[in-house]
Amino acid sequence: MDITKFAIPEIIFGRGSLNYAGQCALRLGAKKVFLVSDAGIEQAGWVQRLMDILEKEGIEWVYYPGVTSNPRDFQVEQGAELYLKNGTDVIIAIGGGSSMDTAKGIAIIASNGGRIRDYEGANRVNRPLPPMVLITTTAGSGSDISQFCIITDVERALKMSIITRTLVPNISIVDPLILRTKTETLITQSAIDALAHAIEAYTSTIASEFTKMQSLKAIDLIIRNLPRAVETRSLDSLEQLSIASVAASMAFSNASLGVEHALAHSLGGHFDMRHGVIHPILLTAVMRFNLDYAEDRMADIGRVILNTTMGSPRETALAGIEKLEDFFDSLNVSRKFRQELQDKDKSLLKTICKNALNDACNLTNPRPASWQELLKICKEVW
Ligand SMILES: [Fe+2]
Repeated sequence: MDITKFAIPEIIFGRGSLNYAGQCALRLGAKKVFLVSDAGIEQAGWVQRLMDILEKEGIEWVYYPGVTSNPRDFQVEQGAELYLKNGTDVIIAIGGGSSMDTAKGIAIIASNGGRIRDYEGANRVNRPLPPMVLITTTAGSGSDISQFCIITDVERALKMSIITRTLVPNISIVDPLILRTKTETLITQSAIDALAHAIEAYTSTIASEFTKMQSLKAIDLIIRNLPRAVETRSLDSLEQLSIASVAASMAFSNASLGVEHALAHSLGGHFDMRHGVIHPILLTAVMRFNLDYAEDRMADIGRVILNTTMGSPRETALAGIEKLEDFFDSLNVSRKFRQELQDKDKSLLKTICKNALNDACNLTNPRPASWQELLKICKEVW
């Protein structure tokens, strides 16, 4: 067996775990926290709640609300300036992937200088980052667990994948109670993002025994709990989705992803699409593309989705993909790009596919892909 490494943060999980944010910050030496979030989380009351928790521990804060979906390079660079100007010492983000990725980008620039694009790719951050506590408000992005940070380069209109061990935060807080304030759409999109993480990590060329068990558990939990979570909002099923998201994140953070995420990043950069919208459209098409190169692993995935096996591994794999397509059809999500991109220029797909080849996630896809093959996949699901 190859030598592998498995990096994860300290994870504080459970109903009401948000209340520990102040103590976590204190343990990391916080005197003045740099707090990152966005308007939506603020409106839901979570930012104020967090401020109250910090105040109770006697911790000051500076609030940076400049987060948007698909966070931009300049937002991260502005945030870093503010971090340094105010003499803050610990970064806390509360939000979805966008808030947490913004916080990570700020941490990189504040401690390593330069522009965020200088760190695109794998292992290009040299100096240690400020301590980070990331509080996720969705069950999907996994940024609170992962060594990934995705930032949009506005000039090049693409999303950069920045991957490095130091991006794993010190502490991740996962409080399923927060999911109760989320919309049905967001819960669904986030869970499908986590499902894509689990599946791509499982077929990654650097998957290990430690990541593979997390992937299969996450797939199982999402298939069995997402419909009920959306329908009933029961805390039990939302909690199961949170567990699934943590498991999927532990898998992809250490095994990386594949061509589906490479394409999702490139599409998000060009069309400013929400990340979670892309996977129900693209995921099964990419699984079919990869099938010949990962038949046994796809069969494992199929077995979990179907809860049974068919005649041969290939039959199990294919039946699993079909069942997954039925699963997506049963949810309120788009299944073709044209449903989301009516006013967009389809001819941009060529550039999008060429850019996707340079994304770090492409390196671990089980089947080597050319831009022409990626274009064919995108046209199939247009
Ligand atoms: Fe993702």
